[in-house]
Amino acid sequence: MSHQVVLIPGDGIGPEITEAMRRVVEAAGVDIAWDVQQAGSCVMEEFGTPLPEHVLAAVERAGVAIKGPITTPVGTGFRSVNVALRRHFDLYACVRPCLSQPGDGSRYRDIDLVIVRENTEDLYAGIEFAPGAPEVAELAGLVERSGQEPFREGSAISVKPVSEAGSRRIVEYAFEYARRCGRKKVTAVHKANIMKETDGLFLRTARAVAAEYPDIAFDDKIVDACCMGLVQDPHQFDVLVLPNLYGDIVSDLGAGLVGGLGMAPGANIGARAAIFEATHGSAPDIAGRGIANPTAEILSAAMMLDHLGEGAAAERVRAAVREVLAAGEQVTGDVRRALTGSAEGAVGTQAFADAVIAALR
Ligand code: NAI
Repeated sequence: MSHQVVLIPGDGIGPEITEAMRRVVEAAGVDIAWDVQQAGSCVMEEFGTPLPEHVLAAVERAGVAIKGPITTPVGTGFRSVNVALRRHFDLYACVRPCLSQPGDGSRYRDIDLVIVRENTEDLYAGIEFAPGAPEVAELAGLVERSGQEPFREGSAISVKPVSEAGSRRIVEYAFEYARRCGRKKVTAVHKANIMKETDGLFLRTARAVAAEYPDIAFDDKIVDACCMGLVQDPHQFDVLVLPNLYGDIVSDLGAGLVGGLGMAPGANIGARAAIFEATHGSAPDIAGRGIANPTAEILSAAMMLDHLGEGAAAERVRAAVREVLAAGEQVTGDVRRALTGSAEGAVGTQAFADAVIAALR
């Protein structure tokens, strides 16, 4: 049976790495009907938006998409297409496995942990008020009436909404993932000692959900201690579940433990759709040169194959990537540099994909 998948090449190195990914997936023998849709700065002029309606409709139809990174202008211009996609499809679970790869240049070997980040609530909800806005004065009145310490004149305010339902579904997702993937422990990460209401609600909900999964161990860690633990002894962790902002930051820490952004795959999962993508951005500094590392995008495709019920093909893709990285011959400049201290002898994006395809066969 042919799987319908929307492919969004994206900006910068996106077209290069998604092309490499697509060739590897096809070589793995999975029958996919690709619906290629353009989004990002490349369509701004034509459609007046980086995320045209017809792209949303295509993802809605297929239910599964894989994308390259999309550039977000800093401070001005359009808002993040990635955040818009997560909101539109309520992609509440961001899943980022951190798995050591041969030659990833990391200080650690054999790291195998998974970060499950809540994707829709928390300070990331983007509810903000500028200094002097009437809403800030209203909030100041509210705080004063509640008997709490008033905030300083001229403050900007961000709102941190955390709900019981939002916390419950992400923690349940983490436990279901742990069960499905044979994992032993879930750790809830929070700052409930200080934010007793918001993070406190997240933690209390996590404890209640954990009681429904007696077969999976559970503990919790304060986010600062968790970061130290990840750097000092990452092997103590298995599945981590975090509210949005901590999840965002700890994901990059996790990527750093396994060789950096070029190695870190990811998935954004909701009830109606799932969108797969590498953790890294559009890398404008190396775009168009054919030298980007497509590993993270190819490993994201392996996660997509798992999601499509093509677990055997997913495993073959992961094994082929491991084999090429372990040989250390046909690897991109970032990997070569991590291995030997110099990019000399590196191959390009498509040559790396060719090596993975050869290993698949
Ligand atoms: P970035 O991840 O694009 O680049 C950071 C550094 O890592 C650069 O030196 C880059 O060359 C290198 N790098 C990244 N991916 C690589 C790969 N596959 N192979 C080899 N080297 C790689 O982060 P940056 O520069 O902060 O962001 C650039 C743009 O990407 C921004 O507009 C940002 O908003 C956007 N972005 C988009 C994301 C998405 O679409 N999911 C995620 C993160 C950032």
